[in-house]
Amino acid sequence: MLKVSIAGASGYVGGELLRLLLGHPEVEVKQVTSERYAGQPVHFLHPNLRGRTALRLVSLQDLEPCDVVFVAFPHGQVAPRIEEFAAVAGRIVDLSADFRLHDPADYPRWYGWEHPAPQWLPRFVYGLPELHREALREARYASGVGCNATVINLALWPLYRAGVIGKTVVEVKVGSSEGGAAPTRASHHPERSHVVRSYAPTGHRHLAEMLQELAFDGRRPDIHMSVTSVELVRGALATAHCFLTEDLGEKDIWRLYRQAYNGEPFIRIVKFRRGFYRYPEPKILAGSNYCDIGFAREEGSDRLVVIAAIDNLMKGAAGTAVQAMNVMCGFAEPTGLEFPGLHPI
Ligand SMILES: NC(=O)c1ccc[n+]([C@@H]2O[C@H](COP(=O)([O-])OP(=O)(O)OC[C@H]3O[C@@H](n4cnc5c(N)ncnc54)[C@H](OP(=O)(O)O)[C@@H]3O)[C@@H](O)[C@H]2O)c1
Repeated sequence: MLKVSIAGASGYVGGELLRLLLGHPEVEVKQVTSERYAGQPVHFLHPNLRGRTALRLVSLQDLEPCDVVFVAFPHGQVAPRIEEFAAVAGRIVDLSADFRLHDPADYPRWYGWEHPAPQWLPRFVYGLPELHREALREARYASGVGCNATVINLALWPLYRAGVIGKTVVEVKVGSSEGGAAPTRASHHPERSHVVRSYAPTGHRHLAEMLQELAFDGRRPDIHMSVTSVELVRGALATAHCFLTEDLGEKDIWRLYRQAYNGEPFIRIVKFRRGFYRYPEPKILAGSNYCDIGFAREEGSDRLVVIAAIDNLMKGAAGTAVQAMNVMCGFAEPTGLEFPGLHPI
């Protein structure tokens, strides 16, 4: 059994990692850390795990050697401690943004700080298996992924790879768990409930990951995003307005998605003429690791609308991180990630 620990296990992503890893047949969860809740049983914070584990949270200073450490700290809190994590575990999966971007100059630009360990950036593989499976097989260090970046990158990668779209404008509607477990005035129930709130009309940090991951043959993608908070706890729905550079029909678009994602265990193309569920919806993906992708070609124009949905805590964070670990450790990729979601919910 692989011995795995989770640093930052009191948060929402840490809780999802723990839920997944406790059910993973190849893994034993060795330790889980929290500074504020050290000494508490994990069900104090993650009540769904009551009776599933006797683990108690420990302080980071008590972290012992293990095979893999998942780190679910806020941005900027991992890079200064990377040597400490590397001393504890041979493999690291870091869920924060600290090792997602390859160019050190991107950190002051998008995050407002100089990277304290730029020599570590080339050692990390961007941890999205659909795009970097071969590199992950050889990797000891994988970054996590930005949730909004992931729903968009998976939706648009086949089209950018084929070079068939030019300017693209994406609107992402997101749930409250994207903000993590730490409360703020804006996340307080009277302020957050029932909102349709423009959260980041421009300048969202995940754009950096999209520009990095959707660049092909030296072409920088002409892509723009806005993020809106809506009445969801889990979930992200991306609606991308793509302007085609070639006159492609729906059959051509289908072909590009099939070529890119044939055999992918967690990508489903959702596009039906009839029924209630004609296009992707985040609600039915809660707790699952799927990314559902659909599209509609507008007649008489060059617009293609691509719609994609994920659970931000799963495919947008913990699910993809466990999938990346499975690739890095040679396990079957869907191991521990088989939960199909709930309906109705
Ligand atoms: N939420 C999402 O949808 C999502 C999606 C993709 C990626 N991520 C990334 O995943 C990471 C965790 O996100 P989250 O939503 O789980 O956040 P969260 O709920 O706020 O949890 C943060 C965790 O980090 C610990 N922590 C807080 N401040 C710290 C500090 N200064 N130094 C070290 N540890 C600290 C907390 O533990 P204590 O008990 O010790 O305070 C807690 O366990 C973030 O980097 C986030 O950007 C989140």
